[in-house]
Amino acid sequence: MKKLPKLGAGSLAAGLLLLTLFFFDTKWSAASETSFLETVKGHDVQFDNRSVRQVLPVSQPTVLAKEEYQGGTFQVLARKQEIERYRCSSCHIVNGGKEVRGKNALTLTHGNVVVNHGQEGNALACIDCHHPEDRESLEDKKGRKIDFDHSYQLCGQCHFRQKRDWLGGAHGKRVANWAGDRVVYNCTTCHDPHSPRFAKRFPVIYSVPLK
Ligand code: HEC
Ligand code: HEC
Ligand code: HEC
Ligand code: HEC
Repeated sequence: MKKLPKLGAGSLAAGLLLLTLFFFDTKWSAASETSFLETVKGHDVQFDNRSVRQVLPVSQPTVLAKEEYQGGTFQVLARKQEIERYRCSSCHIVNGGKEVRGKNALTLTHGNVVVNHGQEGNALACIDCHHPEDRESLEDKKGRKIDFDHSYQLCGQCHFRQKRDWLGGAHGKRVANWAGDRVVYNCTTCHDPHSPRFAKRFPVIYSVPLK
């Protein structure tokens, strides 16, 4: 009966010793790892924003994105200057909500807009994306206005995976530089919002195929 506590005390002492060694060891190695991590994390200058010589400035108009990239800001190519019929208010009375009238007026002005977006029988309608009163804005699912320069917010409501990939840089493309301020293509720089699929095409070849 007296042997058990003795054994217990012995193993307790040995255990304590091992435990101390273990803690000392892990503490020591953890400390060295942490200090390395801290050095990496300690960099407060964003890598992408470091000034690098020979970086050509992006010449196209850009806007500050309303999203974050790695906790910082980035720029997106603006769209309005590319939209042929902008300003829409040259025909549409923006806040009065008045209709533009005339025989075949819609066909004459927007006949070339063909929507091929969404499954057959469930295709998207103009007002799924355009604001019903203010034609100079897009509209989200909650009825809030979205600026044409920020159309990625519109697309991202339905294509959230692609938008997340785009934010991280896995979908879409960066403009011009790998360094300097981050400027990326907008969704509509590449996709026609009305017919967003790309036509199938034969791969480009640089020589005549062998017979
Ligand atoms: C040259 C004149 C003109 C310009 C510029 C114009 N529109 Fe229109 N738009 C019309 C007419 C006419 C109609 C048909 C009547 C109406 O709905 O007001 C129309 C209708 C529309 C409709 C509703 C279509 C439907 O099937 O009900 C949308 C959406 C629209 N326009 C978007 C735009 C946007 C966005 C712009 C700017 C990028 C624009 N329009 C610029 C003339 C114009
Ligand atoms: C999937 C969303 C979506 C749908 C559906 C949609 N639009 Fe658009 N539309 C856009 C976006 C986004 C732009 C701006 C494109 C850009 O950035 O170049 C645009 C641009 C336009 C423009 C200006 C194009 C130019 O270059 O002048 C007109 C006009 C227009 N839409 C009319 C319509 C009409 C009419 C319908 C319905 C028949 C319609 N849209 C359906 C998203 C949509
Ligand atoms: C209201 C929801 C909605 C919005 C907003 C929207 N889309 Fe779509 N989109 C769809 C649906 C639904 C389909 C059809 C999916 C399918 O056929 O599997 C589709 C299909 C597509 C496709 C083809 C996908 C494929 O697999 O072939 C592309 C590309 C695309 N959308 C891009 C865009 C872009 C760019 C915008 C913004 C201008 C946008 N979409 C805005 C709902 C939306
Ligand atoms: C640099 C050009 C570019 C930009 C910017 C871009 N895309 Fe795409 N997108 C593509 C290409 C290329 C494909 C593949 C098309 C194919 O396979 O036929 C694609 C495919 C898609 C598809 C079809 C499904 C898939 O993943 O293959 C959707 C949906 C889509 N894009 C949505 C978006 C949205 C939303 C944005 C903006 C947040 C965006 N794209 C920005 C070029 C672009």
